[in-house]
Order: sequence, then structure tokens, then C-alpha cells
Amino acid sequence: MEGAKSCSCFATISVALVLLLLPNVAVVCHGGKTSTFIRKVEKTEDMPLHSDVFVSPSGYNAPQQVHITLGDQVGRAMIVSWVTLDEPGKSLVHYWSDDCPHKRVAKGNHFTYRYFNYSSGFIHHCTLRDLEFNTKYYYEVGIGHTTRQFWFVTPPEVHPDTPYTFGLIGDLGQTFDSNKTLAHYESNPHKGQAVLYVGDLSYADNYPNHDNVRWDTWGRFVERSTAYQPWIWTTGNHELDYAPEIDETEPFKPFRHRYHVPYQASGSTEPFWYSIKIASAHIIVLASYSAYGKYTPQYEWLEAELPKVDRTKTPWLIVLVHSPWYNSYSYHYMEGETMRVMFEPWFVKYKVDVVFAGHVHAYERSERISNIGYNITNGRCGPSKDQSAPVYINIGDGGNIEGLARNMTNPQPEYSAYREASFGHAILEIKNRTHAHYSWHRNEDEYAVTADSMWFFNRHWHPVDDSTTTK
Ligand SMILES: [Fe+2]
Repeated sequence: MEGAKSCSCFATISVALVLLLLPNVAVVCHGGKTSTFIRKVEKTEDMPLHSDVFVSPSGYNAPQQVHITLGDQVGRAMIVSWVTLDEPGKSLVHYWSDDCPHKRVAKGNHFTYRYFNYSSGFIHHCTLRDLEFNTKYYYEVGIGHTTRQFWFVTPPEVHPDTPYTFGLIGDLGQTFDSNKTLAHYESNPHKGQAVLYVGDLSYADNYPNHDNVRWDTWGRFVERSTAYQPWIWTTGNHELDYAPEIDETEPFKPFRHRYHVPYQASGSTEPFWYSIKIASAHIIVLASYSAYGKYTPQYEWLEAELPKVDRTKTPWLIVLVHSPWYNSYSYHYMEGETMRVMFEPWFVKYKVDVVFAGHVHAYERSERISNIGYNITNGRCGPSKDQSAPVYINIGDGGNIEGLARNMTNPQPEYSAYREASFGHAILEIKNRTHAHYSWHRNEDEYAVTADSMWFFNRHWHPVDDSTTTK
């Protein structure tokens, strides 16, 4: 008996040792995987105001918080935004390219807003138009005072086989972990050409009276990326800034002033839902915190938008939304359910390739599943495998002040292909009309390590099973 006990004890120790030595090994459970990666438990804290990443540029009225996003639906225009503090200055952008070094001038506008006892700087937005596709442009802001120069590359012309790489970041905030995520993304050799951002930016609303100084610090923190490649913005709950207790009752006031997006180019009436087309991808941005029931502007816009998606021109149909429809963590559980009920039949009908969401501060990737069989009498209410359905990826793991979502529902649902409570970012590399490589990178690894990945097979051109767990 004693020997058997020792043997069992030895086996237990061996298994424990193997798990310790191979922390990246995932445990198979119901077809999906719950990662056994053990992350160091530490408090997620905002970087203090004096941090180097928040330092304002020197010089009188120097432009700061510079960021760019598409200025039309296809990337022949770019919105350049920045803030000046001393005085309005000029909302001008000088820009040029190697082929055309003659400086062109675009004129924009500036805006200010007040939020409780905070007064914003002068927020400038200027749209550069008639740009060439796939061209590097240099640009200069702060004309008349302290100038600063940056550059960006416009997207290639829409074409079904044009490769393009997107970075994916969500729920970033401004903690030490947020800084790691951004640095990790920047140093990734497969870094994107644009970032698809799935909402919750600064987390300023975690401060008393939503201290909007933290909107400014966030803008300065991310400038090292947002000034050089377009970030495609999605709104999350931390953009609402709805605070009737301090008489701030205009939802999205700071976001709406600071982050302009080209919503009108896709026929939208609000900057919270819109679409863009880049290379071989049609990207639809949805708003979890704007009305989406039947007859609402967002519902009617999406109903009209989906039939416009031409998979012969843009094979890849990608949706960004903040609140996930499928999430097996214990946090925000079922918060995305009402939007799922409204829109999921359309996503299956139009064969959306992938839906990226945030909100839950962890990582998860689903199988292709749908849950559209239910009606009020049949009781068919479980998700099932569906090759016409999107893969749902939760990438709300940017590293914000609210910390990591660690509690998962158990057992892992069959639809959950991989889940892990770590911070990180993802990369989607579209290769051609049929294949795209997706990878997720946790912050704790060396930059090149891929913690989760899959090859996406396009739902229109190559709709074969691309499950990574069960076939
Ligand atoms: Fe959120």
C-alpha cells in the first residue's frame, strides 16, 4: 500500500512538474482549451501623471495627442487630430510624399468642451483628401507655433486579393500593463498597418468626476502609435461619460469631441456605427451603447449596410463591437445577449468571417457557432456549430485599471475554442481572398511568441471547416 501511495504521489508530482515546466500547455476540455498559463498576480495600476509616456511635447502651443483615422470609407482621405493647450493656433496640416515633395495644405477646425470642472484644450480635426493609395505621407501640425512631423501610409486600393495586416487591441486604459501591451504590439514583427480598436479607451471615468485630464494623458500615451497608423475606433461603455450626478448628461461627450470618424461616408448618422473598406476587408463597427432595436437608426443602418457588402471586392467581412455576444468568463456575462438576438441571424445570412469584441478583460476565441434556431415556442436555445457563422474573438485584454477577468464559467462551453486570463494583443494577417492568419500574443511572452492562432478560411470564397479543435 505504501509503495502504491508513493507511486501515486510520484505521478502527481511528475504531472505537476510537467505543467510547471510547460506553462503554455493548454488543458483540453469539451473540445476547447482553457490555457494553464500562470500569470504573475499583481495589481493593475494606472501610470502616475509624471510618467514619461504622458510628458507633453515642449515648445509653445506644441501639438499633442496626435492621432489619425480614415477620413473616408476607403482610405483616400485621413483625419488628422491633435490638441493644443496655449491657444487655438491654426488647424492646418502640411503634408507631402516622396513622389510629390511639394507641401500641400489642408484646413480643419478646432473644438473645445467642458466637462464638470474640466476645460479641454483646443481639439483640432483636419481631413486630408485626394490621397494616393498605398503611399507614405509625411505631415506636419502646429503650423505657426511649435511644429511636429509624423508620417503614415495610406491603405492599398480595395481589391479582393490585396493582403493587409490589422492589429487588434481593446480596453487598453493607461496602466503599466497597458504600456506593455502597446510596446508588445509595436515590437511585433507582424505589426499591423492599422489598428482595429474594440472600445474602452482612457478609463478616465474611473476617476472622481471622470477627471478628463486622464483623456489627455491617454492621448499622449498612445500617440507613438496613433500618429503613425490609423486606429479604427469603436465605442465602449467607458466612452459614455454619462454622469447625471454632476450634471453631465450628454453621452459620449469627451469621445465625440476628441475622436472623429468617417461615419457619414457609409451613410451612418452617428459616429458610433459605421463601416470602412481597407484592401480586401469590409469592416463594420457597431455600437453596444447606442440603441439597436428594430426601427432604431443603428438597426436600419446595419440592415441596409449588409447587402452592400460585395465579397467579390472585399472578401473579408469583419465586425467590431464592444460587448461580446459569446463570452464564457463570469464578467459581463450575457451583456451582449440582446444585440446578439437582434443581429445574429444577419451575421449568419451574410457569412461574417469574424467578430472582435472587448469589454471582458481576458482573451477568448470561439468556434464558428450560431444560436438562431430559437423561437418563443420551440425551446431550441443552445448554440450549435455553424460554418456560416463568424468566429467570435474577445480581445478586451489591453490591460486597463480594472484588472484581469480571471473567473471563468465551468465547464468550458463547447463553443469556446481557447480562453486565457492574460493581457495581450492580436494580429490578423489577410493573405488573399481565401486565407488569413490570426495570432494572439500575451504580454508575458517574448514578443514573437504566439499563444493562440488559427488560419481563417474565408466564408465566401473558401467556406470549409477551419475549426482548430474538432472537425
Ligand atoms: Fe467595457
